[in-house]
Amino acid sequence: MSSAPSSLYSRKNPFPATHPGNRRLSGEGSGKDTRHHEIALAGSGLNYEVGDSLGLFVANNPALVAEIIATIGATGDETVSGSDAVSKPLRTALTTDYVITQPSKEFLQALVERAGDAAGQLRDLTADPAQKKALDDYLWGLEFIDFLRAHPSVRWTAEEFVKTLRKLQPRLYSIASSLKANPESVHLTVATVRYESHGRPREGVASTFLAERWPATATAGVFIHTAKHFRLPEDPATPVIMVGPGTGVAPFRAYLQERKVTGASGRNWLFFGEQKRASDFLYESELTELEADGVLTKLDVAFSRDQAAKIYVQDRMRESARELWAWLEEGAHFYVCGDGARMAKDVDAELHRIAESVGGKTPEDAAAYVEAMKKEKRYKKDVY
Ligand SMILES: Cc1cc2nc3c(=O)[nH]c(=O)nc-3n(C[C@H](O)[C@H](O)[C@H](O)COP(=O)(O)OP(=O)(O)OC[C@H]3O[C@@H](n4cnc5c(N)ncnc54)[C@H](O)[C@@H]3O)c2cc1C
Ligand SMILES: NC(=O)c1ccc[n+]([C@@H]2O[C@H](COP(=O)([O-])OP(=O)(O)OC[C@H]3O[C@@H](n4cnc5c(N)ncnc54)[C@H](OP(=O)(O)O)[C@@H]3O)[C@@H](O)[C@H]2O)c1
Repeated sequence: MSSAPSSLYSRKNPFPATHPGNRRLSGEGSGKDTRHHEIALAGSGLNYEVGDSLGLFVANNPALVAEIIATIGATGDETVSGSDAVSKPLRTALTTDYVITQPSKEFLQALVERAGDAAGQLRDLTADPAQKKALDDYLWGLEFIDFLRAHPSVRWTAEEFVKTLRKLQPRLYSIASSLKANPESVHLTVATVRYESHGRPREGVASTFLAERWPATATAGVFIHTAKHFRLPEDPATPVIMVGPGTGVAPFRAYLQERKVTGASGRNWLFFGEQKRASDFLYESELTELEADGVLTKLDVAFSRDQAAKIYVQDRMRESARELWAWLEEGAHFYVCGDGARMAKDVDAELHRIAESVGGKTPEDAAAYVEAMKKEKRYKKDVY
């Protein structure tokens, strides 16, 4: 991980940025809360290229901090060691220094030792390394607060509890703007993580910090995470194919701004997917305007929940397989951003199928073709 060399600011010395823009992209009736954020970088000297990500240091929800403090019978004023080895009040350490949601191994181990038989299934699962998968399943959706509440007789001093915690890490977000088009601020496209588990509402730390707990003029530490593997082609005439469902559209908004502002002659094709056209077509007006301007040569959209059977970006790729193959044969660079668990794998499989069905290749030759694209740095992924 490194930062642009021209700035004083880095992951080790993050820039205290403000947050002038925070608006919902998800429309009424959406099952999601995906937002457009603008973060002011003026005066930071931070430079970035489209494709890079922004690192963000965040704070935990004070309501959860207060609940944990009360549950362990502390006041919050106890002095403990922070993750930077500096002594500070428990309340501060739990707010800014440590993970207080998903429980650490150290905590679970300490709990089992203290609770003994009362730890029940947790004790059995942690005792046997062969039960790793069963332990992960058991822990899915459980947080520190659940274990603390379930075992009120287990006592922790503030320092003992903090010693079991892991350091809270900054989160990365794909930059959704071009510095050339927006010299003063960096834009992000963030899905707010909220879910319910074991009867309690839960939330992602950073995405809800962005959505709810970062007022416009307050500061939070940011840095640039360079992504050399995810750059636009060097030759501005090279065509690009971008597959970015959901928040995966973020870096492609930046690419399109960059290609527009630099007058790049290369053609641009975007595949975007989301749940419903009426409420989830992120940046609809910008994208359709770019299409009307001719910057976006082709815009293919896949709304998965507007009909009985799911339609995904790879289905749209298949429908345009001949043209997609022609672009690839002309040297287009192929980009994928967004969900790495399923989408990126399925898009990869579709690419292989197109090389077979249109390119006339055997499965082995199709695999070699895709591999060669990777070697030539024409197939680029940024998935999470
Ligand atoms: C290079 C890179 C670029 C990225 N770009 C973007 C981007 O542009 N936009 C974007 O929105 N994100 C992006 N991300 C993801 C982002 O960094 C965060 O991981 C995401 O916002 C969640 O962080 P959080 O702190 O809100 O949630 P966390 O506090 O980290 O919580 C997430 C955790 O909650 C748990 N969880 C989540 N859902 C459930 C559920 N239904 N049931 C049980 N447990 C659950 C899981 O343990 C999950 O790991 C990117 C990641 C990387 C690495
Ligand atoms: N851990 C999980 O189970 C899980 C699930 C979803 C997202 N995520 C993460 O949540 C974050 C934000 O997600 P997001 O809001 O950007 O959007 P997203 O959840 O990735 O959804 C965007 C679109 O992609 C569709 N999709 C789902 N599976 C797909 C597949 N296999 N191939 C192609 N498209 C597929 C979705 O359809 P449908 O939703 O209608 O199927 C939706 O229309 C990302 O970090 C993502 O990795 C995690």
